[in-house]
Amino acid sequence: MSNGFIISAYILSSILFILSLGGLSNQETARRGNIYGIIGMAIAIVATLMSDEVGNYALIIIPMLIGGAVGAYFASRVEMTAMPELVAILHSFVGLAAVLVGFATYVDPDIHFAGVEKTIHDVEIYLGILIGAVTFTGSVIAFGKLRGTIGSKPLTLPGRHWINLGILILCIFLGKVFINTDSIAGGMAPLLIMTLLAFAFGVHMVMAIGGADMPVVISMLNSYSGWAAAATGFMLSNDLLIVVGALVGSSGAILSYIMCRAMNRKFVSVIMGGFGSTSSVAGSGNEAQGEVVPISAEDTAELLGDIDSLVIVPGYGMAVAHAQHPVSELTRKLRDKGVKVLFAIHPVAGRMPGHMNVLLAEAKVPYDIVLEMDEINDDFPQTDAVMVIGANDIVNPSAIDEPDSPIAGMPVLEVWNARTVIVMKRSMASGYAGVENPLFYKENTRMLFGDAKESMETIISNL
Ligand code: TAP
Repeated sequence: MSNGFIISAYILSSILFILSLGGLSNQETARRGNIYGIIGMAIAIVATLMSDEVGNYALIIIPMLIGGAVGAYFASRVEMTAMPELVAILHSFVGLAAVLVGFATYVDPDIHFAGVEKTIHDVEIYLGILIGAVTFTGSVIAFGKLRGTIGSKPLTLPGRHWINLGILILCIFLGKVFINTDSIAGGMAPLLIMTLLAFAFGVHMVMAIGGADMPVVISMLNSYSGWAAAATGFMLSNDLLIVVGALVGSSGAILSYIMCRAMNRKFVSVIMGGFGSTSSVAGSGNEAQGEVVPISAEDTAELLGDIDSLVIVPGYGMAVAHAQHPVSELTRKLRDKGVKVLFAIHPVAGRMPGHMNVLLAEAKVPYDIVLEMDEINDDFPQTDAVMVIGANDIVNPSAIDEPDSPIAGMPVLEVWNARTVIVMKRSMASGYAGVENPLFYKENTRMLFGDAKESMETIISNL
């Protein structure tokens, strides 16, 4: 296949990947964005297979079929709540692939460079393996933490920042030795030692980060996996891999930044770790603060029969309870009766970006009534009722009222400004940040205890 044809195919794929990212930024165009991505990837794979450098098709196609079947099996069975785990383990594959490709390229007897070109090639190999190794072990630990196989408490070793600094200095030194070595046998030792150090760094870095920050870490590892792929692209002189790696790397970094901003956390402080330990969230705001007024599902139905406007605030608990379909049904019923129903989405509601939007889209809630926090926060004073469904931290007034609270400064949905707030959850337990929520004790709050799906079904049958 001519080189020109492959380059054209790669350019087409790159355009489709950019269109895909653009599509994914909006709920209404997300499906189209996904299709662009699938077509782009199919074109990329076919074009790569048709390049002159590919000789043994069986060696490529058989593992592709096995890997594809395993991937399709697990992806089709994964629960929505376990999606971040799947993403984490997939990043680890990208990291491991970058490490393996780096070593394979280094020992490839057909690659001969000299002078500056050799130095550049060696730097590409070294960086590709370094970033890939950190991504690999970091993602495996993130996967274990999200799954609960590894405790979510941050591991704060004494002098941990010094350990990290020591590893960094050693890696720079080994890089210098590696680049200045002429023989493959001589370069192998620094390369292997650096890989082991990078593996250890990945483990140590993510072990030091608490469970609450894990989604940010996943997005950061997503970014790393992109940069590892870009470095591999340079190594293999594959332009498409460079473009895709850069797209993944920068979009992951932007997403990490957006998540940190929505949680009022500094990106550097997330990476430095230590947040999310029991001690850091205990204390302020964790005392009981008055009386709780419970409400039954039947009384909630009666209350809903008497309102003109309702805002629904979904949170992680709605995902756990799989309550999105009854929520959608309730919305339809109330809208049919002339009630103005809106959804308020906090940027970090749930456990991954866009978590609530995906669930609501799945339950066929119309897009135009799903609003972002900034679009709806001023409307609460004119709202008759708010239903908080399995959400907690994102509606916690202590983020505004208590400067000492661990979530102080985090922007929240100010639901307490509405006439009545109904909070649906199973108990008085705290949310992900482990902080007591004064909303539950406010005069206009009613607590509807129980599984969100069951409560929602009872409300619907009583409406
Ligand atoms: P949370 O604060 O975690 O609260 C979820 C609530 O759902 C819990 O209090 C729980 O109370 C309730 N719940 C669980 N299962 C339920 C069920 N079956 N039925 C009814 N209620 C149920 O969730 P949130 O308000 O969505 O806030 C998200 C949190 O995750 C924030 O702290 C955020 O910073 C963090 N986080 C999110 C992200 C992203 S990207 N979304 C990233 C990093 C961190 P009970 O146990 O009493 O039922």
